[in-house]
Amino acid sequence: MEILEAVASRRSIRTFTDRPVARDVLNRVLTAAARTPSGGNLQPWHIYVLTGDRLQELKKRIADRVAVGDGGDEPEFACYPPQLGSPYRERLADMGSRRYGALGIARDDTESRARARAENWNCFGASTALFCYLDRDVPPPQWADAGMYLQTVMLLLRSEGLHSCTQIAWAEYHRTVDRVIAPPVRRMLFCGMSIGFADPAATHPYLPRAPLAETVTFLD
Ligand SMILES: Cc1cc2nc3c(=O)[nH]c(=O)nc-3n(C[C@H](O)[C@H](O)[C@H](O)COP(=O)(O)O)c2cc1C
Repeated sequence: MEILEAVASRRSIRTFTDRPVARDVLNRVLTAAARTPSGGNLQPWHIYVLTGDRLQELKKRIADRVAVGDGGDEPEFACYPPQLGSPYRERLADMGSRRYGALGIARDDTESRARARAENWNCFGASTALFCYLDRDVPPPQWADAGMYLQTVMLLLRSEGLHSCTQIAWAEYHRTVDRVIAPPVRRMLFCGMSIGFADPAATHPYLPRAPLAETVTFLD
């Protein structure tokens, strides 16, 4: 697959089939993704891949918490700035209306939105998920390295006919994820990523991007 096609065809998929992902495919993708650049070649990402019973256990543990109205753990980091200003606020609102609109959920239907959102912790039906941990004390440049790593994984997954959805939502229940994965204590969950085959029967919303001039400045 051409790189442009991999980039253009990647989008966050939120309805997967339960078809398993072959271990050799995951090995191939994660071996190639290790070539991701990082400042000082620190390679600060720590990746845990969950499938089978272990993933089922995690899904169930979080589903049980959600079912009793448990809103999650004390966050270890903020997902967004406390005051989300323009144009980010508008972009976030646009994302929400496209994401939930594709499911036929109205803006004010908070119950249906919450139900759809809870699918995060079911991996949107996917059979495979990876979890990206960072050492708790690493500063922003290593977070950027992890972002590059995750995008490399997502593009390589496309080249194998697979789709993905990166999910910071897992961090909302980081203690449960930690309990199932049992990483060294100095590591902190950044995000998860559901991996699998997109359900061809589902509508997967296309999220537009800002025009080039809004995010890129050429200076001659
Ligand atoms: C770091 C990160 C965290 C994300 N967390 C979530 C999440 O918790 N749940 C979700 O459904 N999508 C999540 N997304 C997907 C974004 O909403 C999505 O990338 C964005 O809206 C653009 O859409 P696209 O990926 O389809 O192009 C996340 C993406 C990134 C990069």
